[in-house]
Amino acid sequence: MKIAILPGDGIGPEVTREAVAVLECLALPGLTLFEGDVGGIAYKRHGHPLPDETLDMARAADAILFGAVGDPTCDALERHLRPEQAILGLRKHLGLFANLRPARVFAGLEHLSPLRADIAASLDMLIVRELTGDVYFGAKGRRVSETGEHEGWDSMSYCDSEVRRIAHVAFRAAAAGGHLLTSVDKANVLETSQLWRDVVIEVAADYPAVELDHMYVDNAAMQVVSHPDRFGVVLTGNLFGDILSDLASAAVGSIGLLPSASLGERETAFGTFGLYEPIHGSAPDIAGQGKANPMATILSAAMMLRHSFGRDAEAGRIENAVSAALADGVLGGDLGGSHGTAAIGEAVRARL
Ligand code: NAD
Ligand code: IPM
Ligand code: MN
Repeated sequence: MKIAILPGDGIGPEVTREAVAVLECLALPGLTLFEGDVGGIAYKRHGHPLPDETLDMARAADAILFGAVGDPTCDALERHLRPEQAILGLRKHLGLFANLRPARVFAGLEHLSPLRADIAASLDMLIVRELTGDVYFGAKGRRVSETGEHEGWDSMSYCDSEVRRIAHVAFRAAAAGGHLLTSVDKANVLETSQLWRDVVIEVAADYPAVELDHMYVDNAAMQVVSHPDRFGVVLTGNLFGDILSDLASAAVGSIGLLPSASLGERETAFGTFGLYEPIHGSAPDIAGQGKANPMATILSAAMMLRHSFGRDAEAGRIENAVSAALADGVLGGDLGGSHGTAAIGEAVRARL
Protein backbone atom coordinates (compact mmCIF):
# COMPACT_ATOMS: atom_id res chain seq x y z
CA MET A 1 0.00 0.00 0.00
CA LYS A 2 1.99 2.93 -1.34
CA ILE A 3 1.09 6.46 -0.29
CA ALA A 4 2.67 9.50 -1.92
CA ILE A 5 2.93 12.30 0.65
CA LEU A 6 2.93 15.74 -0.97
CA PRO A 7 3.08 18.38 1.81
CA GLY A 8 3.48 21.48 -0.40
CA ASP A 9 3.64 25.04 0.94
CA GLY A 10 2.74 27.17 3.96
CA ILE A 11 0.82 25.15 6.55
CA GLY A 12 0.77 22.15 4.17
CA PRO A 13 3.84 20.47 5.74
CA GLU A 14 2.63 21.30 9.27
CA VAL A 15 -0.79 19.67 8.90
CA THR A 16 0.49 16.78 6.76
CA ARG A 17 3.03 15.83 9.44
CA GLU A 18 0.22 15.29 11.96
CA ALA A 19 -1.87 13.23 9.54
CA VAL A 20 1.14 11.04 8.72
CA ALA A 21 1.74 10.54 12.44
CA VAL A 22 -1.89 9.40 12.80
CA LEU A 23 -1.43 6.88 9.98
CA GLU A 24 1.79 5.64 11.57
CA CYS A 25 0.06 5.34 14.92
CA LEU A 26 -2.37 2.82 13.38
CA ALA A 27 0.65 0.66 12.42
CA LEU A 28 -1.09 -0.89 9.40
CA PRO A 29 1.08 -3.64 7.96
CA GLY A 30 2.41 -3.05 4.45
CA LEU A 31 2.08 0.73 4.39
CA THR A 32 4.93 2.51 2.57
CA LEU A 33 5.21 6.29 2.42
CA PHE A 34 7.11 8.33 -0.19
CA GLU A 35 7.49 12.10 -0.04
CA GLY A 36 7.62 14.50 -2.99
CA ASP A 37 7.83 18.24 -3.71
CA VAL A 38 4.82 20.17 -5.04
CA GLY A 39 3.87 23.83 -5.32
CA GLY A 40 6.07 26.84 -4.62
CA ILE A 41 8.70 24.74 -2.88
CA ALA A 42 8.93 22.50 -5.97
CA TYR A 43 9.24 25.54 -8.22
CA LYS A 44 12.07 26.87 -6.07
CA ARG A 45 13.89 23.52 -5.95
CA HIS A 46 13.19 22.12 -9.42
CA GLY A 47 11.91 25.04 -11.55
CA HIS A 48 8.36 23.61 -11.82
CA PRO A 49 5.41 23.36 -9.37
CA LEU A 50 4.70 19.78 -10.47
CA PRO A 51 8.05 18.19 -11.40
CA ASP A 52 7.99 15.01 -13.52
CA GLU A 53 9.45 12.98 -10.67
CA THR A 54 6.58 14.03 -8.37
CA LEU A 55 3.98 13.19 -11.01
CA ASP A 56 5.65 9.81 -11.57
CA MET A 57 5.64 9.12 -7.83
CA ALA A 58 1.95 10.07 -7.64
CA ARG A 59 1.13 7.75 -10.55
CA ALA A 60 3.03 4.86 -8.96
CA ALA A 61 1.22 5.24 -5.63
CA ASP A 62 -2.10 3.68 -4.54
CA ALA A 63 -3.17 6.96 -2.92
CA ILE A 64 -1.89 10.49 -2.40
CA LEU A 65 -2.02 12.59 0.75
CA PHE A 66 -1.76 16.25 -0.24
CA GLY A 67 -1.23 19.23 2.09
CA ALA A 68 -1.72 22.56 0.32
CA VAL A 69 0.01 24.70 -2.30
CA GLY A 70 0.26 28.45 -2.66
CA ASP A 71 2.97 30.98 -1.96
CA PRO A 72 2.46 34.74 -2.21
CA THR A 73 6.05 35.17 -3.40
CA CYS A 74 5.08 33.21 -6.53
CA ASP A 75 2.01 35.27 -7.45
CA ALA A 76 3.85 37.24 -10.13
CA LEU A 77 5.03 34.13 -11.98
CA GLU A 78 3.54 33.17 -15.31
CA ARG A 79 0.38 31.19 -14.60
CA HIS A 80 1.75 27.79 -15.67
CA LEU A 81 4.55 28.10 -13.09
CA ARG A 82 2.38 29.12 -10.14
CA PRO A 83 2.09 26.72 -7.17
CA GLU A 84 -1.67 26.16 -7.72
CA GLN A 85 -0.86 24.49 -11.06
CA ALA A 86 0.48 21.54 -9.07
CA ILE A 87 -2.90 20.56 -7.66
CA LEU A 88 -4.73 21.40 -10.89
CA GLY A 89 -2.17 19.32 -12.83
CA LEU A 90 -2.45 16.34 -10.48
CA ARG A 91 -6.25 16.36 -10.71
CA LYS A 92 -6.18 16.59 -14.51
CA HIS A 93 -3.27 14.20 -15.23
CA LEU A 94 -4.62 11.56 -12.84
CA GLY A 95 -8.24 11.84 -14.05
CA LEU A 96 -9.54 12.75 -10.57
CA PHE A 97 -12.85 14.22 -11.69
CA ALA A 98 -14.93 13.49 -8.58
CA ASN A 99 -14.26 15.60 -5.50
CA LEU A 100 -16.13 14.52 -2.38
CA ARG A 101 -16.34 17.14 0.34
CA PRO A 102 -18.40 15.97 3.31
CA ALA A 103 -19.55 18.75 5.63
CA ARG A 104 -21.32 17.79 8.80
CA VAL A 105 -21.79 18.96 12.33
CA PHE A 106 -21.01 16.05 14.63
CA ALA A 107 -23.64 15.39 17.30
CA GLY A 108 -22.77 17.39 20.40
CA LEU A 109 -20.53 19.80 18.47
CA GLU A 110 -23.24 22.26 17.39
CA HIS A 111 -21.59 24.92 19.56
CA LEU A 112 -18.63 25.05 17.13
CA SER A 113 -20.90 26.36 14.38
CA PRO A 114 -21.69 30.06 14.08
CA LEU A 115 -25.23 29.00 13.15
CA ARG A 116 -27.98 28.67 15.74
CA ALA A 117 -27.63 25.22 17.36
CA ASP A 118 -30.99 23.92 16.09
CA ILE A 119 -30.02 24.88 12.53
CA ALA A 120 -26.44 23.60 12.83
CA ALA A 121 -27.62 20.22 14.10
CA SER A 122 -29.18 19.45 10.70
CA LEU A 123 -26.03 20.22 8.68
CA ASP A 124 -24.92 16.94 7.11
CA MET A 125 -24.16 17.22 3.42
CA LEU A 126 -21.86 15.70 0.88
CA ILE A 127 -20.72 18.13 -1.78
CA VAL A 128 -19.90 16.26 -4.98
CA ARG A 129 -17.84 18.73 -6.96
CA GLU A 130 -16.77 18.12 -10.56
CA LEU A 131 -13.01 18.65 -10.55
CA THR A 132 -11.43 18.49 -14.00
CA GLY A 133 -13.63 20.75 -16.14
CA ASP A 134 -15.54 24.05 -16.05
CA VAL A 135 -14.01 27.50 -16.31
CA TYR A 136 -10.93 26.15 -14.47
CA PHE A 137 -9.69 24.25 -17.50
CA GLY A 138 -11.14 26.23 -20.41
CA ALA A 139 -9.09 28.45 -22.69
CA LYS A 140 -8.10 31.75 -21.09
CA GLY A 141 -6.07 34.75 -21.97
CA ARG A 142 -5.64 38.47 -22.32
CA ARG A 143 -6.44 40.61 -25.29
CA VAL A 144 -6.70 44.22 -26.29
CA SER A 145 -10.10 45.12 -27.72
CA GLU A 146 -10.66 47.32 -30.76
CA THR A 147 -11.23 50.27 -28.47
CA GLY A 148 -7.91 49.65 -26.74
CA GLU A 149 -9.41 48.10 -23.60
CA HIS A 150 -7.36 45.43 -21.86
CA GLU A 151 -9.46 42.34 -21.40
CA GLY A 152 -8.99 39.11 -19.47
CA TRP A 153 -11.13 36.15 -20.51
CA ASP A 154 -11.80 32.59 -19.38
CA SER A 155 -14.11 30.19 -21.11
CA MET A 156 -16.57 28.06 -19.18
CA SER A 157 -17.77 24.81 -20.69
CA TYR A 158 -18.87 21.27 -19.90
CA CYS A 159 -19.52 18.45 -22.30
CA ASP A 160 -22.23 15.91 -21.63
CA SER A 161 -19.87 13.01 -20.84
CA GLU A 162 -18.20 15.08 -18.11
CA VAL A 163 -21.54 15.94 -16.53
CA ARG A 164 -22.85 12.38 -16.88
CA ARG A 165 -19.96 10.70 -15.06
CA ILE A 166 -19.99 13.09 -12.09
CA ALA A 167 -23.80 12.89 -11.96
CA HIS A 168 -23.56 9.11 -11.61
CA VAL A 169 -21.14 9.53 -8.68
CA ALA A 170 -23.61 11.85 -6.93
CA PHE A 171 -26.68 9.73 -7.68
CA ARG A 172 -24.92 6.60 -6.37
CA ALA A 173 -24.03 8.45 -3.16
CA ALA A 174 -27.63 9.66 -2.78
CA ALA A 175 -29.03 6.21 -3.52
CA ALA A 176 -26.81 4.74 -0.82
CA GLY A 177 -27.60 7.46 1.71
CA GLY A 178 -30.42 9.88 2.32
CA HIS A 179 -31.92 9.75 -1.20
CA LEU A 180 -31.95 13.54 -1.56
CA LEU A 181 -29.86 15.05 -4.35
CA THR A 182 -29.65 18.77 -5.11
CA SER A 183 -27.98 19.78 -8.35
CA VAL A 184 -26.66 23.33 -8.09
CA ASP A 185 -26.22 25.42 -11.22
CA LYS A 186 -26.90 28.82 -12.79
CA ALA A 187 -29.12 27.61 -15.64
CA ASN A 188 -31.10 30.86 -15.62
CA VAL A 189 -28.04 32.62 -17.06
CA LEU A 190 -25.40 30.15 -18.26
CA GLU A 191 -25.69 27.77 -21.21
CA THR A 192 -23.07 25.54 -19.59
CA SER A 193 -25.48 25.18 -16.67
CA GLN A 194 -28.51 24.46 -18.89
CA LEU A 195 -26.62 21.56 -20.47
CA TRP A 196 -25.59 20.45 -16.96
CA ARG A 197 -29.24 20.45 -15.85
CA ASP A 198 -30.46 18.61 -18.98
CA VAL A 199 -27.88 15.83 -18.49
CA VAL A 200 -28.59 15.51 -14.76
CA ILE A 201 -32.31 15.08 -15.51
CA GLU A 202 -31.42 12.37 -18.04
CA VAL A 203 -29.21 10.50 -15.54
CA ALA A 204 -31.95 10.72 -12.89
CA ALA A 205 -34.01 8.18 -14.86
CA ASP A 206 -31.52 5.48 -13.71
CA TYR A 207 -32.13 6.30 -10.02
CA PRO A 208 -35.88 6.30 -9.36
CA ALA A 209 -35.38 6.12 -5.59
CA VAL A 210 -33.46 9.41 -5.49
CA GLU A 211 -35.35 12.66 -5.07
CA LEU A 212 -33.73 15.20 -7.43
CA ASP A 213 -33.97 18.91 -6.90
CA HIS A 214 -32.34 21.77 -8.86
CA MET A 215 -31.23 25.00 -7.24
CA TYR A 216 -29.52 28.12 -8.52
CA VAL A 217 -26.15 28.66 -6.90
CA ASP A 218 -26.98 32.02 -5.33
CA ASN A 219 -30.02 30.53 -3.62
CA ALA A 220 -27.98 27.47 -2.63
CA ALA A 221 -25.39 29.65 -0.88
CA MET A 222 -28.17 31.25 1.11
CA GLN A 223 -29.90 27.95 1.95
CA VAL A 224 -26.66 26.31 3.16
CA VAL A 225 -26.63 28.65 6.13
CA SER A 226 -30.38 29.18 6.61
CA HIS A 227 -31.76 25.67 5.93
CA PRO A 228 -28.93 23.14 5.82
CA ASP A 229 -31.54 20.43 6.47
CA ARG A 230 -32.64 20.86 2.84
CA PHE A 231 -29.40 19.27 1.61
CA GLY A 232 -28.17 15.69 1.47
CA VAL A 233 -25.94 15.19 -1.56
CA VAL A 234 -25.10 18.37 -3.47
CA LEU A 235 -23.95 17.92 -7.07
CA THR A 236 -22.23 20.87 -8.67
CA GLY A 237 -19.51 22.08 -11.02
CA ASN A 238 -15.93 22.94 -10.29
CA LEU A 239 -16.24 26.67 -9.52
CA PHE A 240 -19.54 26.58 -7.62
CA GLY A 241 -18.33 23.56 -5.63
CA ASP A 242 -15.15 25.38 -4.65
CA ILE A 243 -17.09 28.32 -3.27
CA LEU A 244 -19.92 26.35 -1.63
CA SER A 245 -17.50 24.04 0.18
CA ASP A 246 -15.63 26.91 1.88
CA LEU A 247 -19.03 28.27 2.87
CA ALA A 248 -20.16 24.90 4.23
CA SER A 249 -16.93 24.61 6.24
CA ALA A 250 -17.59 27.95 7.91
CA ALA A 251 -21.09 26.75 8.77
CA VAL A 252 -19.58 23.63 10.39
CA GLY A 253 -17.21 25.80 12.40
CA SER A 254 -13.93 26.14 10.52
CA ILE A 255 -12.23 25.47 7.23
CA GLY A 256 -9.68 23.58 9.33
CA LEU A 257 -12.22 20.75 9.75
CA LEU A 258 -13.21 19.82 6.19
CA PRO A 259 -11.50 16.93 4.39
CA SER A 260 -11.83 15.85 0.78
CA ALA A 261 -11.31 12.90 -1.52
CA SER A 262 -10.63 13.27 -5.23
CA LEU A 263 -11.41 10.11 -7.14
CA GLY A 264 -11.42 8.89 -10.72
CA GLU A 265 -12.04 5.55 -12.36
CA ARG A 266 -8.78 3.76 -11.58
CA GLU A 267 -8.96 0.81 -9.23
CA THR A 268 -5.89 -0.55 -7.46
CA ALA A 269 -5.42 -3.89 -5.69
CA PHE A 270 -6.73 -2.23 -2.50
CA GLY A 271 -9.52 0.13 -3.56
CA THR A 272 -10.06 3.27 -5.63
CA PHE A 273 -7.00 5.36 -6.47
CA GLY A 274 -7.42 8.83 -5.03
CA LEU A 275 -5.92 12.07 -3.78
CA TYR A 276 -6.86 13.25 -0.30
CA GLU A 277 -6.48 16.81 0.94
CA PRO A 278 -8.03 19.34 3.29
CA ILE A 279 -10.24 21.84 1.45
CA HIS A 280 -8.19 24.76 2.80
CA GLY A 281 -5.08 26.28 1.31
CA SER A 282 -1.57 27.08 2.47
CA ALA A 283 -2.76 29.84 4.85
CA PRO A 284 0.29 32.10 4.50
CA ASP A 285 -1.09 34.34 7.27
CA ILE A 286 -0.47 31.64 9.92
CA ALA A 287 2.22 29.50 8.25
CA GLY A 288 5.28 28.60 10.30
CA GLN A 289 3.61 29.45 13.60
CA GLY A 290 2.38 25.99 14.61
CA LYS A 291 -1.17 27.34 14.74
CA ALA A 292 -2.87 25.49 11.88
CA ASN A 293 -5.62 23.01 12.66
CA PRO A 294 -4.53 19.63 11.23
CA MET A 295 -7.95 17.99 11.70
CA ALA A 296 -9.04 18.47 8.07
CA THR A 297 -5.92 16.67 6.88
CA ILE A 298 -6.26 13.95 9.52
CA LEU A 299 -9.88 13.43 8.38
CA SER A 300 -8.64 13.32 4.78
CA ALA A 301 -6.32 10.47 5.78
CA ALA A 302 -9.40 8.70 7.18
CA MET A 303 -11.16 9.14 3.82
CA MET A 304 -8.07 7.63 2.18
CA LEU A 305 -8.26 4.54 4.38
CA ARG A 306 -11.94 4.14 3.52
CA HIS A 307 -11.87 4.75 -0.25
CA SER A 308 -8.39 3.65 -1.31
CA PHE A 309 -7.63 0.88 1.18
CA GLY A 310 -11.00 -0.55 2.24
CA ARG A 311 -10.12 0.11 5.87
CA ASP A 312 -13.51 1.38 7.06
CA ALA A 313 -12.95 0.43 10.69
CA GLU A 314 -9.69 2.40 10.96
CA ALA A 315 -11.26 5.35 9.12
CA GLY A 316 -14.08 5.36 11.66
CA ARG A 317 -11.60 5.19 14.54
CA ILE A 318 -9.84 8.32 13.26
CA GLU A 319 -13.13 10.18 12.80
CA ASN A 320 -14.24 9.24 16.30
CA ALA A 321 -10.89 10.32 17.74
CA VAL A 322 -11.23 13.73 16.07
CA SER A 323 -14.79 14.29 17.27
CA ALA A 324 -13.85 13.10 20.78
CA ALA A 325 -10.96 15.58 20.86
CA LEU A 326 -13.29 18.38 19.77
CA ALA A 327 -15.87 17.36 22.36
CA ASP A 328 -13.12 17.48 25.01
CA GLY A 329 -12.33 21.07 24.05
CA VAL A 330 -9.22 20.42 21.96
CA LEU A 331 -9.71 23.48 19.76
CA GLY A 332 -7.33 25.34 17.49
CA GLY A 333 -7.29 29.11 17.12
CA ASP A 334 -9.65 28.74 14.15
CA LEU A 335 -12.29 27.48 16.61
CA GLY A 336 -11.56 30.03 19.30
CA GLY A 337 -9.25 27.73 21.25
CA SER A 338 -5.54 27.82 21.95
CA HIS A 339 -4.31 24.36 20.92
CA GLY A 340 -1.50 24.37 18.39
CA THR A 341 -0.97 22.01 15.46
CA ALA A 342 1.21 19.49 17.33
CA ALA A 343 -1.01 19.48 20.43
CA ILE A 344 -4.10 18.79 18.32
CA GLY A 345 -2.34 15.95 16.48
CA GLU A 346 -1.20 14.47 19.79
CA ALA A 347 -4.69 14.76 21.30
CA VAL A 348 -6.22 12.92 18.33
CA ARG A 349 -3.61 10.13 18.53
CA ALA A 350 -4.18 9.78 22.27
CA ARG A 351 -7.86 9.07 21.53
CA LEU A 352 -7.27 6.51 18.77
P1 NAD B 1 -6.67 29.47 2.85
O1 NAD B 1 -7.63 28.33 2.91
O2 NAD B 1 -5.24 29.13 2.74
O3 NAD B 1 -6.89 30.40 4.13
C1 NAD B 1 -8.11 31.10 4.36
C2 NAD B 1 -8.18 31.52 5.83
O4 NAD B 1 -8.43 30.34 6.63
C3 NAD B 1 -6.88 32.11 6.38
O5 NAD B 1 -7.19 33.11 7.31
C4 NAD B 1 -6.20 30.95 7.07
O6 NAD B 1 -5.35 31.29 8.11
C5 NAD B 1 -7.40 30.13 7.56
N1 NAD B 1 -7.09 28.68 7.58
C6 NAD B 1 -6.99 27.88 6.50
N2 NAD B 1 -6.68 26.63 6.87
C7 NAD B 1 -6.58 26.64 8.22
C8 NAD B 1 -6.27 25.66 9.19
N3 NAD B 1 -6.00 24.38 8.86
N4 NAD B 1 -6.24 26.02 10.50
C9 NAD B 1 -6.52 27.28 10.85
N5 NAD B 1 -6.82 28.27 9.98
C10 NAD B 1 -6.85 27.95 8.67
O7 NAD B 1 -7.14 30.38 1.61
P2 NAD B 1 -6.42 31.68 0.97
O8 NAD B 1 -5.83 32.50 2.03
O9 NAD B 1 -7.42 32.24 0.07
O10 NAD B 1 -5.27 31.06 0.07
C11 NAD B 1 -3.90 30.94 0.46
C12 NAD B 1 -3.13 30.19 -0.60
O11 NAD B 1 -3.57 28.83 -0.64
C13 NAD B 1 -3.36 30.74 -2.03
O12 NAD B 1 -2.13 30.65 -2.69
C14 NAD B 1 -4.37 29.78 -2.62
O13 NAD B 1 -4.28 29.71 -4.01
C15 NAD B 1 -3.95 28.48 -1.98
N6 NAD B 1 -4.99 27.44 -1.89
C16 NAD B 1 -4.58 26.16 -2.12
C17 NAD B 1 -5.45 25.11 -1.97
C18 NAD B 1 -4.98 23.73 -2.23
O14 NAD B 1 -3.77 23.49 -2.19
N7 NAD B 1 -5.84 22.77 -2.53
C19 NAD B 1 -6.76 25.37 -1.51
C20 NAD B 1 -7.15 26.69 -1.28
C21 NAD B 1 -6.25 27.73 -1.46
C1 IPM C 1 -9.32 24.01 -3.55
C2 IPM C 1 -8.51 25.22 -3.99
C3 IPM C 1 -8.07 25.05 -5.43
C4 IPM C 1 -9.32 25.04 -6.28
C5 IPM C 1 -7.07 26.09 -5.97
C6 IPM C 1 -5.87 26.21 -5.12
C7 IPM C 1 -6.65 25.75 -7.37
O1 IPM C 1 -9.20 26.39 -3.78
O2 IPM C 1 -8.79 22.89 -3.62
O3 IPM C 1 -10.44 24.19 -3.08
O4 IPM C 1 -9.85 26.10 -6.62
O5 IPM C 1 -9.78 23.94 -6.61
MN1 MN D 1 -11.03 26.13 -2.60
